[in-house]
Amino acid sequence: MKVLVVGGGGREHALVWKIAQSPLVDEIIAAPGNAGIATLARTVAVRADDVEGLTRLAVEEECDLTVVGPEIPLTLGLADRLTERGATVFGPSRAAARLEGSKSFAKDVMARAGVPTARAWLTTDRDEAVDRAVEIGYPVVIKADGLAAGKGVVIATDEREATEAIDDAIVRGRFGSSGASVLVEEYLEGEEASILAFTDGQRVAVLAPSQDHKRALDGDAGPNTGGMGAYAPAPVVTSGALERVRTDVLEATVRALADLDGTVYRGVLYAGLMFTADGPKVLEYNCRFGDPEAQVVLSLLDGDLVEIMTATARGQLDPSTVKSRAGGAACVVVASGGYPGPYEKGKVISGLETAAAMDGVVVFHAGTAAEEGRIVTSGGRVLGVTGTGPDLSTALERTYAAARAIHFGCARYRTDIGHRALKRCGTP
Ligand code: AMP
Ligand code: GLY
Repeated sequence: MKVLVVGGGGREHALVWKIAQSPLVDEIIAAPGNAGIATLARTVAVRADDVEGLTRLAVEEECDLTVVGPEIPLTLGLADRLTERGATVFGPSRAAARLEGSKSFAKDVMARAGVPTARAWLTTDRDEAVDRAVEIGYPVVIKADGLAAGKGVVIATDEREATEAIDDAIVRGRFGSSGASVLVEEYLEGEEASILAFTDGQRVAVLAPSQDHKRALDGDAGPNTGGMGAYAPAPVVTSGALERVRTDVLEATVRALADLDGTVYRGVLYAGLMFTADGPKVLEYNCRFGDPEAQVVLSLLDGDLVEIMTATARGQLDPSTVKSRAGGAACVVVASGGYPGPYEKGKVISGLETAAAMDGVVVFHAGTAAEEGRIVTSGGRVLGVTGTGPDLSTALERTYAAARAIHFGCARYRTDIGHRALKRCGTP
């Protein structure tokens, strides 16, 4: 089979790495890919948001399967375009991707499906939004309705912060049309976890529950980032809770979507959940793998990813083919100093081979490029050093040993990935 993978971050390197292990695969093409992906796939310089270019590439190359990493091409309708052309695509249609692309749409579907989530009010009116915030009390959560590259959520601790966030979105148009309407949402207290599942629109097969670390600094301090690390399985999710989320949240959601207007969701469905005193509640849906959650859940996946994805795309998912290995996996993101603010690029990376040769370690590239035979930094999140082991502590030890072997100018990473799990399990 010839497989096209769309995207060029750490998530896509993990996808390509797992796809390359399938005996069904002869060739992998990645668009645009990165320096790590280029060791496993032929990279083509087509951007991940270039729906026309990607469609042409998949059709001209006669790819047997296209796997879409990021949300943007899905919300722009890449899966629809490819399906129209008779191609097999892993990733939901534009209509189904609204679960991520519109938070108010996701809330509507959840209400129909009886899925527990935070109470929220949608409005385009600035004064009404402020009144709602005052009514709910603090902290209150202000969210841009549409996609905002992970920056559209503000947890406001007082009226000044709430008003500022509402004005930013509605009055100053900080997120463009994505923020013309906002959700004013009740704040949920608890521990977060991500549950990712394959679904063909009917059947749902979950991957190991994971937890990412969104803040830049140790102790969950500093600004929000795309994710500084992740681990799986997350012990906050018991096996009973995982099964309840599979049936009462994920299955219920894809059914409600199908009942609503015949929208069939095929791909990976990612539920970001808060485990509150009243049980799990959905914070958000994503229509793609998480980054860096993909790096850990795919490291634990036992099974042929290409077989699973092809069956999912064709509406023939067999949940018994989706199994996660026992043990643990951890991913530590090595970032450029300054990220998520401004940072320098072009720093030469050393130690990659030493790290990759360590037991149970894979180094996924995110923001890297090849330059005159050397690997240099080209993004904020540079590498996702990932380790597996018989338990999470071993996975973390291996991951950090590998991270310490890697060097580039201004490299930095969090040193406390997995801290909640270690605390829960009584490990200091
Ligand atoms: P979202 O993009 O909706 O996942 O929001 C980003 C982050 O904001 C989440 O991962 C949570 O940490 C936080 N968040 C979002 N909604 C809420 C909420 N209702 N209560 C508490 N925290 C929230
Ligand atoms: N790591 C969070 C996300 O991919 O949305």
